[in-house]
Amino acid sequence: MRLFGFSLLAVLVSTACAAPSAPGWRFDLKEERSGIVALESIVVSPTLVLFFDRASDDPLQINNHSAWGALWNLETSTVRPLDVLTNSFCASGALLSNGTMASVGGDPNLFPGNPAIHPGNQAIRLFEPCASPTGDGCTVFEDPENLHLLEKRWYPSSTRIFDGSLIIVGGMHEDTPFYNTDPALSIEFFPQKESTPRPSDFLNRTLPANLFPRIFALPDGKVFMVANNQSIIYDVEENAERILPDIPNNVRVTNPIDGSAILLPLSPPDFIPEVLVCGGTQTDTIDPLLLSSQTPATSQCSRIRLDEAGIARGWEVEHMLEPRIMPELVHLPNGQVLITNGGRSGFAAIASVSDPIGNSNADHPVLVPSLYTPDAPLGLRISNEGMPSSGISRLYHSSVTLTPQGNFLIAGQNPNNHTVVGPDVVFPSEFRVQTLDPPFMFVERPKILNTPEKLAFNKKFTVPVSIPNTLARLVQKFKVSFECLSLMDLGFSTHAFHSSARLVFMEATISPDRKSLTFITPPNGRVYPPGPATIFLTIDNVSSEGAWVMMGSGNSPPTLE
Ligand SMILES: *[C@@H]1O[C@H](CO)[C@@H](O)[C@H](O)[C@H]1NC(C)=O
Ligand SMILES: *[C@@H]1O[C@H](CO)[C@@H](O)[C@H](O)[C@H]1NC(C)=O
Ligand SMILES: *[C@@H]1O[C@H](CO)[C@@H](O)[C@H](O)[C@H]1NC(C)=O
Ligand SMILES: *[C@@H]1O[C@H](CO)[C@@H](O)[C@H](O)[C@H]1NC(C)=O
Ligand SMILES: *[C@@H]1O[C@H](CO)[C@@H](O)[C@H](O)[C@H]1NC(C)=O
Ligand SMILES: *[C@@H]1O[C@H](CO)[C@@H](O)[C@H](O)[C@H]1NC(C)=O
Repeated sequence: MRLFGFSLLAVLVSTACAAPSAPGWRFDLKEERSGIVALESIVVSPTLVLFFDRASDDPLQINNHSAWGALWNLETSTVRPLDVLTNSFCASGALLSNGTMASVGGDPNLFPGNPAIHPGNQAIRLFEPCASPTGDGCTVFEDPENLHLLEKRWYPSSTRIFDGSLIIVGGMHEDTPFYNTDPALSIEFFPQKESTPRPSDFLNRTLPANLFPRIFALPDGKVFMVANNQSIIYDVEENAERILPDIPNNVRVTNPIDGSAILLPLSPPDFIPEVLVCGGTQTDTIDPLLLSSQTPATSQCSRIRLDEAGIARGWEVEHMLEPRIMPELVHLPNGQVLITNGGRSGFAAIASVSDPIGNSNADHPVLVPSLYTPDAPLGLRISNEGMPSSGISRLYHSSVTLTPQGNFLIAGQNPNNHTVVGPDVVFPSEFRVQTLDPPFMFVERPKILNTPEKLAFNKKFTVPVSIPNTLARLVQKFKVSFECLSLMDLGFSTHAFHSSARLVFMEATISPDRKSLTFITPPNGRVYPPGPATIFLTIDNVSSEGAWVMMGSGNSPPTLE
């Protein structure tokens, strides 16, 4: 008996050791550093991510001065500086219908040791489509005299809308202490739709914690906005707002009380929008002297379905596994949502509360991401099972983006006024770059072998694919998550908000020989604002790499095709 027990144990151990370790989520620390604090990040081509920072004393140099713009190469994990004219600190931005990235607004201030800087609060910076995989010859274009916003905007938000242009919302004019005391209470567009900004009652009502309003282009062309603890639907064409219920329980979700928000995946045939808002803080005061780096954040997530029945029902409340200030919500290709970054207590902004940690108003970083499954029953949607710890705090001025490869690029953090590093600094300027790699990065994946460069709306396309034999459980008709074809805007990340991020599921079938995929594009630019998109094929939760396409005509905005 004894001998038998011993040998059974030996067999079990050797089997366990011999078995390949099951693929799980992994953080991968890159050797090269970002050189600037990646406080804004946006994927601008299949291989390049554009980073912007404050113009200050970053280590990365260009033309004999510290850089504040850079391109991160996803193939080589290396950085290349960009020469930027105006201060891009706390700007917004998005890709336009013609593939150009427009960065808008920013910091009015100059930095003593860096003579190359111009004020950025009225800036428009253009990064034209870059065909070079390494970014060779690609740069930022600026002409501050002739190309600028109507109003000064620091901490604005922007998103691409149904005609491929940008709506630009809110912000402040100049420096204000902690919260918004010099507000830009207006909306404008790029390219301009009129010669004066549109006043916004919503922005007025949501003062003073309304910086970086969380805004989404809805599938009927209107724009949903949430700021402070209030929400509206803004009709761009009628210039009218419809007031929706407040976020429940006194929870506030915009800077400097940053929660995050996301438009959940849109599915055919009805594309009914639902918005999820997570984190922030339950507070009645915004006086920084009454606030602490130890003030607990909220774990509350609030979700609303934006059809008449859903609006009548109002917000449904659920909870993350932990409280988070400055979390970020990012789509996975299969329709789940990654919840990452942020801390358990405190606030955004720099050295303003009664007891900052160094200069950080926030403390107790959350290092383990969670996943939110929109289709799961209430109370069972959030899990961090199998999720690793990043080991690196990502508090104020960090960013995260899904890449066309299907993993997440996570970088940044700087709750300081310039570059502050050293062994005694608890929350330094963070230049380390990580990817968070989903389990499907380590197994054989489906491939989209080829796509047309441009896809017209409401059309059927057939493209070649390869499906590994390991993904045997094939479904012919794709409808919901986990077996799906998703059309995604990877969005623009800053200040705990991923603007323009979008996932639209497409009706799709795979041929019986598994060699081709036929799908129908979204009906119009209201469902997916015309512009660059990435298509991911997911089978059994294993996602392909993304195919980079132009959804629509590729015309300059405004365009309805
Ligand atoms: C950088 O500085 C060096 C030394 O001061 C000078 O020789 C060089 O021309 C400068 N380069 C540029 C691009 O300004
Ligand atoms: C904002 O609201 C206040 C109080 O209701 C009002 O007095 C003020 O005129 C409004 N400001 C703007 C710019 O609409
Ligand atoms: C939203 O904030 C306002 C002003 O601070 C407060 O009066 C109101 O009760 C809050 N709403 C909810 C639902 O908590
Ligand atoms: C950081 O800059 C802000 C204004 O830009 C200033 O009010 C604050 O005192 C500075 N904080 C530190 C720690 O230098
Ligand atoms: C895919 O992931 C979801 C969410 O974690 C899970 O419920 C589902 O069972 C998975 N499907 C497969 C085929 O593994
Ligand atoms: C895209 O449109 C914008 C706004 O009209 C324009 O400034 C930019 O040059 C255009 N880019 C291309 C590649 O046509």
